[in-house]
Amino acid sequence: MKIAILGGTGDIGQGLALRLAADTPHQVTIGSRDAERAATKAEEYTTELDSRGLDAAVTGAENEAAAAAATVVVLAIPPYHVGDTVESIADALDEGDVLVSPATGMKRDDEGFHYHRPGAGSVTRIAADAAPDGVDVVGAFHNLAADRLANLDADLGIDTLVIGDDGDAKRTVVDLAEGIEGLRALDAGGVANAPEIEALTPLLINVAQHNDGLHDLGIEFK
Ligand SMILES: NC(=O)c1ccc[n+]([C@@H]2O[C@H](COP(=O)([O-])OP(=O)(O)OC[C@H]3O[C@@H](n4cnc5c(N)ncnc54)[C@H](OP(=O)(O)O)[C@@H]3O)[C@@H](O)[C@H]2O)c1
Repeated sequence: MKIAILGGTGDIGQGLALRLAADTPHQVTIGSRDAERAATKAEEYTTELDSRGLDAAVTGAENEAAAAAATVVVLAIPPYHVGDTVESIADALDEGDVLVSPATGMKRDDEGFHYHRPGAGSVTRIAADAAPDGVDVVGAFHNLAADRLANLDADLGIDTLVIGDDGDAKRTVVDLAEGIEGLRALDAGGVANAPEIEALTPLLINVAQHNDGLHDLGIEFK
């Protein structure tokens, strides 16, 4: 399967690109608003994989071209730009493609990070509202620490919660996530349940910041 990671030049995009390329047979393309930046980052990730003896080339392209070539498109971009970005790539998507949203709206003050719920209800909902007909949106990867993913020496042993209104699209993303070694994907229902998952991200960051040794913590449900 071809996976595009829009904003794959950033933190969570890097982690997902490296893990997916290292652990799964899928072809990963980094998307960016700037084709040259995408190509540079893709080369960097490929070099990292190669240094570990992994024969898994990551490619780079401008966001729309990356989305056009992919079946699964991950929106690894700041939450406030998710709606616009989905609209900007809508023509490049085919019926049956799946969009994946890991984004969470957050505000920061002196006390820490706080969930900033968008008016639409969740960022996943914003993506779903902006998606063209026939393209389903699935929420996943919200509660993963980018640095832990990007460090291929780090064992994961954590869960990701997956939400979506279409069973087939959700299964596609569950299978994709579980291809990453040490990551378990749990079905958390439909898009209406996205706020509860998105709200966990600031909680995790606050716990990470206040407790030594938990910098890149994740959740494991038992
Ligand atoms: N960091 C984490 O640990 C983590 C964990 C779970 C979920 N998330 C979620 O994942 C998303 C990305 O987080 P991140 O930390 O990776 O963010 P980031 O590094 O700040 O940004 C990711 C990429 O977004 C693109 N971008 C920036 N401004 C944009 C705009 N106006 N329109 C379209 N694209 C834009 C940039 O790529 P180009 O400049 O190359 O286009 C950038 O490299 C966020 O929504 C966040 O809530 C993050």
